[in-house]
Amino acid sequence: MSAVEALRGDIRAEDPHSYARISVDPVTPVIGAEISGVDLSQPLDAETAADIRKALHNWRVVFFRDQDLTNDQLKAVGRAFGPLTPAHPIAEGLDDHPEIWERSVEDYRKRRVANDAAPPSRQPPRDYKGWHIDITFVANPNRYSILYGVEIPRFGGDTLFANLIEAYAGLSPAIRTLVDGLQSVHRTSSYDSAGSSKPRRDGRSPGPFASLHPLVRIHPETGEKLLFLNPGTTSHIVGLKERESQALIDLLYGEVTRPEYQVRFHWRPGSLVIWDNQAVAHAGPIDYAHFDLPRTVRRITVAGEPPVGPDGFVSRPLDGELFNVLG
Ligand SMILES: [Fe+2]
Repeated sequence: MSAVEALRGDIRAEDPHSYARISVDPVTPVIGAEISGVDLSQPLDAETAADIRKALHNWRVVFFRDQDLTNDQLKAVGRAFGPLTPAHPIAEGLDDHPEIWERSVEDYRKRRVANDAAPPSRQPPRDYKGWHIDITFVANPNRYSILYGVEIPRFGGDTLFANLIEAYAGLSPAIRTLVDGLQSVHRTSSYDSAGSSKPRRDGRSPGPFASLHPLVRIHPETGEKLLFLNPGTTSHIVGLKERESQALIDLLYGEVTRPEYQVRFHWRPGSLVIWDNQAVAHAGPIDYAHFDLPRTVRRITVAGEPPVGPDGFVSRPLDGELFNVLG
């Protein structure tokens, strides 16, 4: 091999879009990629897990098809990327698998229809159509979310994902400078709290929860800046007047949900999605009110750290405990 060929080989090895063990097919230019060549029912070796993490950093959300997983195999997929949390700080997991949150579309139909019908209000929940980042009412929201399709209708029940790094990058420099130094309060909404009247099996408090977060977050793995606005739980921006806070949240919500930053995923039974909860907001199932077929998914979450802002501000709890780790 000549020196030039060796150099070319080195350049290829450093290509952020080259993968040793998986095939990656992007779905849009800015978010979403389908991964093939992996059987997730088998233990993930370190090289394959590193490839998937690399694809996640490139595309923010990755999609796998036709995976046949037991609950133990689903948890093993999650543990390849870090320790798992309990299913949810408020809702209970499965009896035998406290890390797994099983969700039926009926839960959304019952709770979100009431939310959608609420009159306009300056208090959360606002009518933000289900857009959210997972579990930011705690000071240490999860790093990754992993969702597995169990019972999926032939049509209906899609999930949308939006790239929060692109949403930040698309702001004008003056607005970026403004939001870089701000913090916001994220708190449990009535939607989150529904069904929390019973004591938890693990004895932990089911809330209410509230946390103070930077409005711009430094991605802990890539160093990129992202707009850390959670339409579902950000109640207000600290230090602003009420009208200023509401207007800025509405402005940023419009940026986060611009169609050009989105990908839409159509589920099939056996689909598995991993999203970087440090880089995307999501909404789903978006059309639960328009179909009446059953839909069941199971979710696990990989533990994360308190977010850090561009000025070094570190998230802290205002009410309730941190999200704990089960291993
Ligand atoms: Fe979610």
